[in-house]
Formats: sequence, C-alpha cells, structure tokens
Amino acid sequence: MKIKFLVYRYNSLKKDKLRYDSFNVRYSKGMTVLDVILFIYKNLDSTLAFRYECRQGICGTCGIMLNSHPVLSCSTQINPDIKVQKIEPLANFPVEKDLIVSLKPVLKRYLQIKPYLTKIQKKLITKNTADLSKPFRKCIECGCCIAGSPEILKKSAKYLDPMSLVKIARYITDPRDGLKRNSVLIKSKIKGYSQEIGKELSKICPREIPIDKAIQLLKS
Ligand code: SF4
Ligand code: FES
Repeated sequence: MKIKFLVYRYNSLKKDKLRYDSFNVRYSKGMTVLDVILFIYKNLDSTLAFRYECRQGICGTCGIMLNSHPVLSCSTQINPDIKVQKIEPLANFPVEKDLIVSLKPVLKRYLQIKPYLTKIQKKLITKNTADLSKPFRKCIECGCCIAGSPEILKKSAKYLDPMSLVKIARYITDPRDGLKRNSVLIKSKIKGYSQEIGKELSKICPREIPIDKAIQLLKS
C-alpha cells in the first residue's frame, strides 16, 4: 500500500514560490516520518533539505509538522489510515529551506533567560529537590511546543515561549542555581498562559514534560 505525502518546498535564498511536492511512498509497519523523508531523499528527490541526528528522540533536531501537528520525525510512526499526508517545517519558525527552519530568533530570546546553571551555590541535592526539577530536565529543545503555541502567544513578542518557561522552571527548582530568575519573569511575560494552554502544550511535548506544571510553578 502506498501513501501520498505532500512535502513543503521553499528556498529562502532563491526566494522561491512555496510549493508542495507530491511523493508516493510504500508503507511498511512501524515506519516513522523520518523513514519517509529519508526514502524520498534517497530514492525520489535528493534536493530535499531536512535535519536529523540521533534517530532516538534525544537530540531534538528533527522536529517537523505532520498533518499540522508538531512532532519529532524520528519517533513518530505513520498512521496508514491517512492516505494523503502533509509534511511541513515547524510552524512559528522562519523557513530556511524545505523542512529546515532558522533557530536564530528563538535562540536569541532563549539566551536572554540564561538557560544554564549560573552563580553556582554549594548546595546539597537531595532526592526531593532532584525530583522537583526532574521533569523539566528532560527538555531536548526541539521547539515542538513553540510550533504548537496558540495564536495568543504567537502574536506577541512580549511573551516567553514555552521552551524558555520549561528551562526557567528547571533552574528555579535547582538549589545550586544562584541567579535571581524571578527578575526575568515579570508577570506580563507569562500572562497569556492559562492552565488550558499549558495542558495543550504538555500534550504536544514529545518528552511528556508537564508544561502546565512549569506555568503553575512560575505563576506562583
Ligand atoms: S518542552 Fe518539550 S516540546 Fe518544548 S522544547 Fe522542550 S522537549 Fe521540546
Ligand atoms: S533525530 Fe534526534 S530527536 Fe529525532
């Protein structure tokens, strides 16, 4: 059985017109989106641009939109019941070429929140404190939550994106971090995040990070 894939094509350098190329790919059980992309690249069109590294859901480089949902292509299996499927680059990121997006705007914002341990305190890590930060330590910076952010967050540059919220939650729950992170968390930067939005974002996250809990934590 073959499935038709409509793949987003665009080259920002040539300022091409956006188009969707159609590829028919034979389905095999357990096939992932990355398997489809690699098949197209190796057998049908070697000009297709895309990113991947680990193929294990760890490096966070292979995020794409599958049928309008942000997913990691390496760890998302194809649903054979959908006969025509769309593969696009992550939403809310500028596209460089085909499925490759530019991370520059996001990284610029991200670095402002200092996403690393700083002003390190000599503090003992107990099991309780380690458990608090554990879910937020699982973030692989894939950007899927940013791609799945609702309109209210997309429209305003003043909101922190969900990936940044998770990272701040990770460090404010780590007693070794001595930076006064509340200073970057002025209320207006998280005002647009309701618990409902948090729950939706948590469902999108391929690492099952409770983004709603990060929001709750930061709001409190
Ligand atoms: S919170 Fe989840 S979806 Fe967002 S960047 Fe981290 S791993 Fe990806
Ligand atoms: S290739 Fe590394 S997460 Fe998919």
